Amino acid sequence: FHLDIDASETDKGTYPFYMLKEIDEQPIVIRNLLSRYFDADKHVQFGSEILREIREADRLYIIAAGTSYHAGLVGGRMFEQWSGKPTEVHISSEFAYEQPLLSEKPFFIFLSQSGETADSREVLQQINAQGHHSLTLTNVEKSTLWREATYALPLLAGPEIAVASTKAYIAQVTLEAMLAYAVADQAQLGFDLEQELSKIAVDIQGIVDDKETFKQVAEELLVPAQSAFYIGRGVDSAVSLEAALKLKEISYVQAEGFAAGELKHGTLALIEKGTPVIALMTQPKMALLTRGNLAETQARGAKAYTIVSKSIAKANDNYVLPDTIDLLSPLLSVVPTQLLAYYTSLGRGLDVDRPRNLAKSVTVQ
Ligand code: G6P
Repeated sequence: FHLDIDASETDKGTYPFYMLKEIDEQPIVIRNLLSRYFDADKHVQFGSEILREIREADRLYIIAAGTSYHAGLVGGRMFEQWSGKPTEVHISSEFAYEQPLLSEKPFFIFLSQSGETADSREVLQQINAQGHHSLTLTNVEKSTLWREATYALPLLAGPEIAVASTKAYIAQVTLEAMLAYAVADQAQLGFDLEQELSKIAVDIQGIVDDKETFKQVAEELLVPAQSAFYIGRGVDSAVSLEAALKLKEISYVQAEGFAAGELKHGTLALIEKGTPVIALMTQPKMALLTRGNLAETQARGAKAYTIVSKSIAKANDNYVLPDTIDLLSPLLSVVPTQLLAYYTSLGRGLDVDRPRNLAKSVTVQ
């Protein structure tokens, strides 16, 4: 077994932890994907077979675990809203033992940084035995999920060493966007994906350059916290799940990500004086409602922090994100939450890259 990795890619350089290096590499990851998958005429280049299979399927099934599952929750919305393709997103360990009823012509998309997650492999084996076709998006070429799927595309994120996944999530969401865009009616969508993604790469650079801001917020808001909540609606609820997972994984703060509207149906009981509630608001049609939900937590003593897109930001919002296409906003909004998790872990004196009890690649069910 031979790992063919350039030493410079696995070297931390001047970074104290791999996670910070990997967060900083995210603009490059998007640029790598752009140069691999867009041709000079701005057409997305994938094997025509892959696009044909997606087009001909009557339903897509996205299968993944952990952070990759959260990337799937974003991609599923792109396939539905941009490409008009009904899409279900499933946690692999659930799908494997309680397979839902499948449509007549399903097509499967596996998302996996490592390509080795046992739960996802189990599902792939099952659907292969049933004769269904699949596409794996993975960071590790020739991994099991790469080899055993009908088709595979590389995430091109470079080796991800920190247990907490960051740049692989960005790569997964970007590649899902490219696929959904490639099968959509682009004239009707009315935006140029290549242009938007290039702008996002620049905008992520701007966010990672704001490290001091997030270090301070983490130290004041999250380092002393017992528990914390991320809330948002629509695609912001998917990012809330990822944001909470990142915080839990490396800082051991009990955190929950929530569809903001669900808070009042039980979880509001957990809000006490000083509980941090971080609201993600990037979706113009839902932001006002999330503001209302946030106000309800503040009335119970929560310490609020808002991460908001520029076009809908108000004077007293805390962090303002550049605007982008609604469903691409996770590529921006997730970055502050990665940095908040990083600085919370650091502030608590923990080993950011190697959190207790966790493994980078989980090869048991
Ligand atoms: C592990 C890692 C997570 C990752 C998950 C799925 O739990 O710690 O960071 O999201 O596995 O891994 P995969 O390699 O399939 O994306």
